[in-house]
Amino acid sequence: MRKLLILAGISMFAVQVQAADINAGQRLSASCASCHGQKGISSNPMYPNLAGQKAPYLVKQMRDFKTGKRQDPVMSAMVKSLDEAAMNNIAEYYSQLGK
Ligand code: HEC
Repeated sequence: MRKLLILAGISMFAVQVQAADINAGQRLSASCASCHGQKGISSNPMYPNLAGQKAPYLVKQMRDFKTGKRQDPVMSAMVKSLDEAAMNNIAEYYSQLGK
């Protein structure tokens, strides 16, 4: 039963983010890899792992860096040029890694 609920959750999630383009996200992630790792797993504890984190969570963090709600000079600079679509694509790419 629990498994079924989880599965239902996952498929609902998939429908919700259908519009995101994982391939575009992967291309954009090239500029993130130096800190967050090639596959979203960082080799330095200074940089959080992005692989397998929920897409809405990742989008929120990127938005917050952009608006200054979450402050980090490095990350603010990194997300500056990303629009909503780009952030969604990147988030979707990282969220499906490590599954
Ligand atoms: C020069 C190193 C560097 C690069 C390049 C970089 N980041 Fe980061 N990133 C960081 C650091 C440092 C933090 C942690 C900031 C903090 O402590 O608040 C972080 C945090 C994050 C977080 C929050 C993760 C969490 O679990 O809270 C996200 C999301 C993120 N980065 C996405 C990206 C994306 C997307 C790119 C590429 C467009 C990128 N980063 C490029 C250094 C980097």
